[in-house]
Amino acid sequence: MKNLSIGFFGAGNMTRAIVKGINTNYPKTQFYFYTPTKTKASDLANEFKGTLVENLSEMPKDLDYYFLGFKPQNLLDFHFDFKNESKIISMLAGIDTAKLESQFQQKNILRIMPNTPMRIGQGVTLAIFSSGFDLNSKKELEDIFSSFSQWVLVKSDLEVDQLTAYTGSMPGILFEIFKMFEASLAKWNITGVSNKELLLKAILGSVLLADSEKEKSFEELRNEVTSQKGITEAAIKTLNELNLDSIIHQSFVNAYKRSVELKEGK
Ligand SMILES: NC(=O)c1ccc[n+]([C@@H]2O[C@H](COP(=O)([O-])OP(=O)(O)OC[C@H]3O[C@@H](n4cnc5c(N)ncnc54)[C@H](OP(=O)(O)O)[C@@H]3O)[C@@H](O)[C@H]2O)c1
Repeated sequence: MKNLSIGFFGAGNMTRAIVKGINTNYPKTQFYFYTPTKTKASDLANEFKGTLVENLSEMPKDLDYYFLGFKPQNLLDFHFDFKNESKIISMLAGIDTAKLESQFQQKNILRIMPNTPMRIGQGVTLAIFSSGFDLNSKKELEDIFSSFSQWVLVKSDLEVDQLTAYTGSMPGILFEIFKMFEASLAKWNITGVSNKELLLKAILGSVLLADSEKEKSFEELRNEVTSQKGITEAAIKTLNELNLDSIIHQSFVNAYKRSVELKEGK
């Protein structure tokens, strides 16, 4: 296996998840980290035996890949003298390949939308390459990301923006909903039980069950565990009466609108 060298601009939660995934599957990779305040870059450099790059100009120019891991709002202020053949990977939400191509002159640009479960090898990577991207590197990147996530090549930037909340934001959205389950359970004041552990097991068991029976639709799975006039049906009836489906859809529509705003620099 080839020894990779990768530079990261930005060392937040998402960079950490990607580095963890790469380090687990490509342990000989050399990592270089730069952040303006140095704190997070230094933490990751220590954790993954990488190199802290103290000043932006000191980032080596001949690495295999460079990741942009800062916030979309920082893009216009970011200036690094990449070589023409450098391969740039952007994880910036809402920033499409056209915008990246106008900011950088390099022909090798990959836009990805990762998610944090990569940290445990369970991620999803939405990906779209710029048209001139080097073919061998395309294959290499697919192999790298497939080692810790489901690699999904999409046809357009629009699709990346539409899918982003369903993959990149999904952990955050679910954790918010889990928090609501926890708050509801707490209202019963049941003692001697760990509410969080109980909920986690019920959630995990349901997800694993759905995963083990992929041939069944979510509706079929729901029907199998919902008897007429039963307890589950009473709960689901309430969710339907309150139009939870349109609330859920509206939240994803608003997430998409936010990605459009990010592209506009808002
Ligand atoms: N978090 C997610 O679940 C998720 C999912 C998909 C995509 N994304 C995308 O991933 C990117 C990073 O998100 P995050 O949650 O990891 O952010 P984060 O935790 O806030 O980290 C951002 C990092 O960017 C650094 N930074 C700021 N300006 C910079 C510059 N000019 N040059 C280099 N580094 C700079 C910051 O450095 P300091 O530490 O010095 O401030 C910090 O280390 C975003 O573009 C986001 O849209 C995130």
